[in-house]
Amino acid sequence: GNRVMLQFKLVLLGDSSVGKSSIVYRFVKDSFDEFRESTIGAAFLSQTIKISGSSEQSETVIKFEIWDTAGQERYKSLAPMYYRNANAALVVYDVTQQDSLTKARAWVNELKNKVGDEDLVICLVGNKIDLCDGDEDKRAVETGEARDYAAEQSLLFYEVSAKTGSGVRQIFESIGEKLYET
Ligand code: GTP
Ligand code: MG
Repeated sequence: GNRVMLQFKLVLLGDSSVGKSSIVYRFVKDSFDEFRESTIGAAFLSQTIKISGSSEQSETVIKFEIWDTAGQERYKSLAPMYYRNANAALVVYDVTQQDSLTKARAWVNELKNKVGDEDLVICLVGNKIDLCDGDEDKRAVETGEARDYAAEQSLLFYEVSAKTGSGVRQIFESIGEKLYET
């Protein structure tokens, strides 16, 4: 059969230490590092996925070209270089840090103002859900609060853990399917 390869540019944005690089490493290398160093500038990685729902005769492969930006304030001015021309953006917050959702909302506003949402698939991602179970539940952002905000802004929404891998693949699969449809 024939093989169709589509290429999309994806950018990660969000406060420092919310786990952007950890999400990318889970997706690209299926690994996790407890002591990951803060990103300097930005990092580039790529990964392909197959899209389900394509016919038996043809296979559709989506290649993500991923720009993992640095969340530290001093790198903020570099971000437009990476989100300009992007097809998709993951706006990441940490479910144990309420401030990180405030930062995420600011990124969503900036993307909508500077890129325009017809051209960009935006996914809001709450990371570190592994810290939310058991006796020491550290959750600070309720799922409903983030989900309502995402719905109101027409964003995709996932809660994930880069540490356990829970939900990480689904982010990229749903973005891939959405980009494939349009
Ligand atoms: P910057 O590069 O500074 O913007 O940070 P970042 O958003 O890339 O965060 P990074 O992936 O470096 O993760 C920061 C810290 O959080 C690291 O110590 C990670 O090990 C930890 N971390 C990331 N994801 C998770 C997760 O899902 N669960 C837990 N428990 N810790 C996580
Ligand atoms: Mg990083």
